Amino acid sequence: MLPLPSTSLRALPPSKEIKKSPHQLAALVHEVRNPLANVNLAAEMLATMITSDDQKLYLDIIMRNSIRINNVLTDMLRTFQPDENHLEEHSIHELLDEVLAVSMDRLRLKNIIVTKKYLKRDNKILVDKLKLKIAFTNIIINAIEAMPAEKGVLNLVTRSEKGKPVLEIKDNGVGIAKENLKQIFKPYFTSRPGGMGLGLSTTHDMLESNHVQINVRSAPGKGTSFILSFEGVRQGGISHDISSSVI
Ligand SMILES: Nc1ncnc2c1ncn2[C@@H]1O[C@H](COP(=O)(O)OP(=O)(O)OP(=O)(O)O)[C@@H](O)[C@H]1O
Ligand SMILES: [Mg+2]
Repeated sequence: MLPLPSTSLRALPPSKEIKKSPHQLAALVHEVRNPLANVNLAAEMLATMITSDDQKLYLDIIMRNSIRINNVLTDMLRTFQPDENHLEEHSIHELLDEVLAVSMDRLRLKNIIVTKKYLKRDNKILVDKLKLKIAFTNIIINAIEAMPAEKGVLNLVTRSEKGKPVLEIKDNGVGIAKENLKQIFKPYFTSRPGGMGLGLSTTHDMLESNHVQINVRSAPGKGTSFILSFEGVRQGGISHDISSSVI
C-alpha cells in the first residue's frame, strides 16, 4: 500500500454547476450525432463504389468506428437522464475487470504494472452497469495519465468496511496539489494539457446516482487514491479473505 494521504476530500454534493452540465453535454451529444449520421451515409455510398482491397480496409475502419462513436453517444445520452437508472446486480470485480480489459492498450503502452487485491468472495451490488463502468474508466484513465511510463503501478483493492464493499483505485502518479483537490469534480477543471476537465464531473454524477461515496486522497509526487464506498446497495456476501494477483 502507498503511504499516501496528505490531503483527503469527501466528494461534495453536486453544485448547481455540476447539475447543469449533464444537460449541456446531452445537447452536445445530440448535435454531434447529426454530422455523424452524414459520415455514415457517405461511407455507405462509397462502399458501393470502391473496388480495391486497400480502400475497403480503410473504409471498414471508418464505418466500424463511426458505428462505435454512435453507440458511445447513445449510451452517453441515456446516462445523462438523471433519474434513469437501470439497476441490476453486478459483481464489482467483474465490472472492474471489464474496464481493465478495455484500458489494456493504454496500460501496455506505458508499461504500467497492475496489481489486484480482491476479496475472495465477490460482492454483488445493485447498480447501473453502464454508469459504473464509465466512472471506473474515467478514474483508471486519469490514473494512467498521471503515472510515468515504465514506473507506474496501479493497485486495485476491494475490502469490506462496516459491512459495505469498498473499492480503492490507487496510483503512484504525480498526485494532486491540495488547492486542486477541491476543484477536481468541477466541470472543466483540468491540469492536463489537452484535458477537458469533464471526466471526474461525469464520474461524480454517475457514482452519486448509484449511491457510491467518493473519497480522494493524494500526496503530490507520490500518488492518488480514489476510494469508492458502495452505500445502500444489496450485496451477495463479503468475506475478509484476500486474493492477490499481478497482471
Ligand atoms: N489520478 C490522478 N492523479 C493526478 N491528478 C488527477 C488524477 N485524477 C484526476 N486528477 C486531476 O483532476 C483533474 C480533472 O480530472 P478530469 O478527469 O475531470 O479531467 P481531465 O482528465 O483533465 O480531462 P478529461 O475531460 O479528458 O477527463 C485532472 O486534470 C488532474 O489535475
Ligand atoms: Mg480525465
